[in-house]
Amino acid sequence: MIDVMKMITARMYMKRNEPFLSSWHAYVGYELDLFKAFGRPMSKFDVADALQLDEDLLEQWIMVGLSIGHLKEAGRGRYKIANAWKLPKPKGNNSSGVLLKEMMELHIPTLLQYPEMMREKSRSHFDEEKHAPTVAETSRLLEVLAMPKMSKKIRDNEFKQVLDIGCGEAGYIKKLAKRFPDTHFTGIEISPAVAEKAEQLTQDDANIEIVNADLWHYQPERQYDMVMLNNVIHYIDLEKREALFTELASWLEEGGIFSVVTPIAGSVDDPPFANVFNSFFSSFDNLYRLPTREELAEWGETAGLKLLGIHTVIKEGSWYIVQYSK
Ligand SMILES: C[S@@+](CC[C@H](N)C(=O)[O-])C[C@H]1O[C@@H](n2cnc3c(N)ncnc32)[C@H](O)[C@@H]1O
Repeated sequence: MIDVMKMITARMYMKRNEPFLSSWHAYVGYELDLFKAFGRPMSKFDVADALQLDEDLLEQWIMVGLSIGHLKEAGRGRYKIANAWKLPKPKGNNSSGVLLKEMMELHIPTLLQYPEMMREKSRSHFDEEKHAPTVAETSRLLEVLAMPKMSKKIRDNEFKQVLDIGCGEAGYIKKLAKRFPDTHFTGIEISPAVAEKAEQLTQDDANIEIVNADLWHYQPERQYDMVMLNNVIHYIDLEKREALFTELASWLEEGGIFSVVTPIAGSVDDPPFANVFNSFFSSFDNLYRLPTREELAEWGETAGLKLLGIHTVIKEGSWYIVQYSK
């Protein structure tokens, strides 16, 4: 009887892990441009040769692809992608593949260190320069969903000066600057590599300025109509968060808006992904857990701001846009 239970449990976990196989397969295909290569019927030999890849490993990857439906046979020993809409687009097109890359290269390896970190009571260090470009690109996937709430505030209030703190690759301000040509946008970014990329991407936008600076050392030259803090809270030490809200509120004009994008976690009612984010962030000595709803309300109140609303951006990831007015 006990042996039967063991078998059932083992089978259950194997079944539950099946979706992981698709993610792994899609990640490898994205990373090595294999879905592009198999965009038309190709043999494993031609692809291995063209991309200079190990043919035996490629063959095994093709077999997995056939069994999970990412690839199909196309005659004469050739293969082709199947269900293209399910697969990540090639690199560099704001592809969803970047999310797979971040998950496979950063999140999963980190979570696998958990036993050792718990035993050793140790933490990893988040390598900013290594991961910042991927993380900044992943955050951009959320833009389309969060953007309307930001646009509305700028349009309704005819805001003229907007500051984006931890602007990453300037995805938000680039889109907003196009929509609001009479509004000036300033983006602050601490990573030199990411700030440089942001500058490149916005060099033709006369109403955008990118500053490579740490927000804690930035001295604003003026008051702003709107200050944005998108996907940055988990970089901020828990003890400094309340003070940060108060500081940023002091950079706002009366009637200005403080607009924050962040996942929210910490309650058993929050989706599992959000709570696992917290396990991930807590693995590093320089990243910190996500805020709770209560904290977001409290910090705003201490800063003298009025909480306007907490709106869902992505339910599964527990991602929200939280807006306050001064
Ligand atoms: C997850 S990314 C988000 C980028 C962008 N705001 C978005 O939502 O798409 C967070 C960014 O904040 C930057 N950052 C972290 N701490 C910062 C600080 N103290 N000052 C300025 N930027 C910071 C990081 O380098 C990173 O590019």
